[in-house]
Amino acid sequence: MSHHIVVIGKTGQLAQALQKEIGRSSLTANFIDRKSLDLSAPETSLNSALRKLPKCHAVILAAAYTAVDKAENQQEKAMAVNGRAPGLIAAFCKEQDIPLVHISTDYVFNGQARKPYKETHQIAPINAYGRTKRAGEVAIELSGCRYAILRTSWVFDGHNKNFLTTMLKLAQTHKTLSVVNDQLGRPTYAGHLAKAVLKVTNELIANTKEPIGIVNVTNTGPIISWAEFAKVIFSDQNLDVKVVEISSLEYSTPAKRPAYSALDTRKFETLFASNLPSWQAGLKVALAERR
Ligand SMILES: NC(=O)c1ccc[n+]([C@@H]2O[C@H](COP(=O)([O-])OP(=O)(O)OC[C@H]3O[C@@H](n4cnc5c(N)ncnc54)[C@H](OP(=O)(O)O)[C@@H]3O)[C@@H](O)[C@H]2O)c1
Repeated sequence: MSHHIVVIGKTGQLAQALQKEIGRSSLTANFIDRKSLDLSAPETSLNSALRKLPKCHAVILAAAYTAVDKAENQQEKAMAVNGRAPGLIAAFCKEQDIPLVHISTDYVFNGQARKPYKETHQIAPINAYGRTKRAGEVAIELSGCRYAILRTSWVFDGHNKNFLTTMLKLAQTHKTLSVVNDQLGRPTYAGHLAKAVLKVTNELIANTKEPIGIVNVTNTGPIISWAEFAKVIFSDQNLDVKVVEISSLEYSTPAKRPAYSALDTRKFETLFASNLPSWQAGLKVALAERR
């Protein structure tokens, strides 16, 4: 039997990757854009918009307020989209008796750890985006719906706005680039993340008894800084750009970022008997996507 899913989000990196992956699978899906369902108005239009969604076996929430720096000055809007809307969507899923797959972030942690964060590690976001994403996790946990919350990190693909495409764009006009070396984590290719999201979705549809809860889902591979990631990108592309390593203090942004946010992915590996490929493998696919 072919299962039908609703993906909230259509234009984002993950939603686009899901569109590709679903096209290769036996699933069918509707992708819901902001015009049909605006997450910034959870208390007014969201409930009626949810009721107009096509019938489905599961919902994937792939949309979010992702502008980490802007969130500092737009906390109310970010909280509506990331904090309150997921709770209403979870309540809708409970009422319909269908599972919800939600995406969260490494930025729920404060970055003081020096080994990869387990799902159970103490939460302590240091910026508004992280606080709103955590509020969304809690709202889903309290809803009583069947859910999986997939925490991921440093998402990239070959064409949307992200670190990889920004570096490649800057390389066209710069011979030297300053990049921070004191934020460590693991990049995640959106295509690999999308495959994992569908694995989890299929599991929740097929197995109505076992809870999944929160699970870390990132590419595997070495933990690196943004500066190291930039160097790998330029070297892979044979681009003659010198990366000058700087500290976060020298590259001031409105939102603080965790100094360390690598996630421990052993829970995913245990649940699904396999893990995601390395971020280097993801980078190769993303770069091939551009050609
Ligand atoms: N990107 C990362 O590095 C990263 C890291 C960790 C976790 N995550 C999480 O991964 C998930 C997917 O992220 P992504 O990288 O695919 O994000 P993205 O490329 O920034 O896309 C965000 C999506 O959310 C939609 N959206 C924003 N505000 C909305 C609203 N008020 N109503 C309806 N839709 C709205 C956007 O639609 P419009 O095109 O209409 O604006 C867009 O489709 C998110 O939950 C994010 O928090 C991302």
